[in-house]
Amino acid sequence: MPAESSSRRSSGTSRHALVQPPRSGGVQLISVNSTRIAWILSILLSFTLCLQIMLLFNHDDFVTQMSIMENKLMEEIAYVEDIASDAFNAAQHREDEEEEESGAFKPGQRLVFDVEKMHDASWDESTTEQYSMEPEDILRRAGVDPSEGYMPQLSFRESRANERRGITVQKKMVELPTLEEIQSMYGSKAHILGLERCEAFRNSVPEIDRLMGPAGLFNSATNLLATLLKMNCVNSKRFQSKEKRYMNSFRTGILPQAPWGKHNPVTWRNIHSAKFAKKLLHQTDFLPIVIIKDPITWFASMCRHGYEARWWRTPQHCPNLVPNKYDKRGGYKKIGQGEIAARVKFATPYIGKQPMPDPKNKTFVNYTSMIDLWNTWYSDWHDVEFPRLMIRFEDLLFHAEETITKVCECGGGKMQKKFHYMEDSAKGSTGVHSGSAGFLASLVNYGNSTLRMKDIMRWEKDADYFNEHVDKELMELFSYAYLDV
Ligand SMILES: *[C@@H]1O[C@H](CO)[C@@H](O)[C@H](O)[C@H]1NC(C)=O
Ligand SMILES: *[C@@H]1O[C@H](CO)[C@@H](O)[C@H](O)[C@H]1NC(C)=O
Ligand SMILES: *[C@@H]1O[C@H](CO)[C@@H](O)[C@H](O)[C@H]1NC(C)=O
Repeated sequence: MPAESSSRRSSGTSRHALVQPPRSGGVQLISVNSTRIAWILSILLSFTLCLQIMLLFNHDDFVTQMSIMENKLMEEIAYVEDIASDAFNAAQHREDEEEEESGAFKPGQRLVFDVEKMHDASWDESTTEQYSMEPEDILRRAGVDPSEGYMPQLSFRESRANERRGITVQKKMVELPTLEEIQSMYGSKAHILGLERCEAFRNSVPEIDRLMGPAGLFNSATNLLATLLKMNCVNSKRFQSKEKRYMNSFRTGILPQAPWGKHNPVTWRNIHSAKFAKKLLHQTDFLPIVIIKDPITWFASMCRHGYEARWWRTPQHCPNLVPNKYDKRGGYKKIGQGEIAARVKFATPYIGKQPMPDPKNKTFVNYTSMIDLWNTWYSDWHDVEFPRLMIRFEDLLFHAEETITKVCECGGGKMQKKFHYMEDSAKGSTGVHSGSAGFLASLVNYGNSTLRMKDIMRWEKDADYFNEHVDKELMELFSYAYLDV
C-alpha cells in the first residue's frame, strides 16, 4: 500500500514537475500572501468596526458634516457656473454693443412702403372693441396657428439644471391662457402715458425732421417695439423726400433706439450720443417711446440674461431681493436681512466735440436692489416734462394694433393698411418675438399667472420685499398686479 501510494504520488509529481515551479517555493509565496491579505482584511474590518462605533455615537455630527460638504460643493458649482455665465454674457454684450453702436436693423428687415396706400395714423376708439384681447382672436388676427406648439419659457434655475443634464427643451402643445387670467395681471385696457404731449411734439418739430424709437431697460423688448414700429409706421414726408440728408439718414423716421442709447437713464439725453446717431444734430427731434415691462417678469428675464446689470445671483436664488442661504458666499451673511444691491454699467456720457472717453471708461450707477433699478429708471422717465410716450410691453402682445397706431399718430406718421404683427420667420430673424412661433410663445408664457409668480414666490421674503418696495405709483399707472402673498 505505501509503495503503491508513494509510486502514484511520485508519478503524479513527475508528471507536474515540468510545468510547476519547485513546490517549496510555491508554498512560501502563498503563505506570505495569505498572511498579508489576512492582515489587510483584519485591519479593514477593525477600521469599519471603529467607524461603525464612531458613527453610532456621532451620527448627527456626521450627517451635518456631510450636508455641509455637499452645500460647499453646490456653492462651488454655482460659482463656476457664475463665471461661465459672465463669460457668456460678455460675449453677448459685445453683440449687443455692436448693435447699439451701429443702430442698424437686422438684415432681412428691408421693407417696401407704398406710401400712397398708407393712411394717417389715428385710432378710432369706437373700433377698440373689434380688437378683442381673447388669445384666440389675437392669434387669428396675427395669422398664427396655435397647433404648431410653442417653446415653454424656463427660469434661470431650470435652464441651468437642463444644461447640466444635457436636456434640450421640447415644443409643447399650446394651452391658451384665459382672458380672465390675462386681465388679472395686466387689466383690460392698453396703457399709454403721455398722449397729451403729442401735439406739443408735433408743433415743435417740423414734419420732415420728426423721429421716434424705443428707450427701455434691458429685457423690456425694445427691439420688438422698434420692429413693430418700423413695419407699420412711416414718416411719409421724410420717406418721400429727395433731399440727400433725409434720404440717407433714418429715412422712415423710425430709429432703432434713442440717440443717447436706449438703455441709458433719461438724464443722458442731450449729454450723450450713441455712435450710430452722431450725425443727428438735435436729439429733441426724437420722440422717445419708453417701453416698460411688468417688474416680475422683467426680473425673471434679467436672471436669464443680466446684460450690464451686476448683482449677486445664483441659479438657486434668482429673482433675489432678500439674501437667503445661497447668498452667503456673495458676502450676504445674514439670511433674511437687508437686500441684495445692484449696479449697472452705463456708457460714460459724451457728446459732440468733447474728447472721446476711453471705451473702457464706463459709468457705474449703484442701486439698493434690482427693484430699485426698475423703480428709479422708470420713475425718472415718468417725471420728465418734455414729450415722451410710455407704453407697456404686454400691450404689444394683447393690444398691438391700438398701441402701435397711437404711437405712430403721436409722431405724426402714416400706418400700413394691414397691421403687421411680426416679420416673416422665413427671413431668418431672431429673438423671442420672431416669427409666429415666438409670438405664440410670448402669448402663452406672459399670459400665465402661475408662471409669472413661480420663481419670486419661492422665498417668501423676496415676495414681501417686492410688494413693499416696488414703486406704487408705477404699479398703479400701468396696472401691474402685486404678488399674492
Ligand atoms: C401655466 O404654467 C404652469 C406652470 O408652468 C402650468 O402648470 C400651467 O399648465 C400653465 N397654464 C396654462 C394655461 O398653460
Ligand atoms: C471717464 O470719462 C469722463 C468723461 O469723459 C472723465 O471725466 C473721467 O475723468 C474719465 N475717467 C477715467 C478714469 O478715465
Ligand atoms: C457704488 O458701490 C461700490 C461698491 O459696491 C462703491 O465702491 C462705490 O463707491 C459706490 N459708488 C457710489 C457713487 O456710491
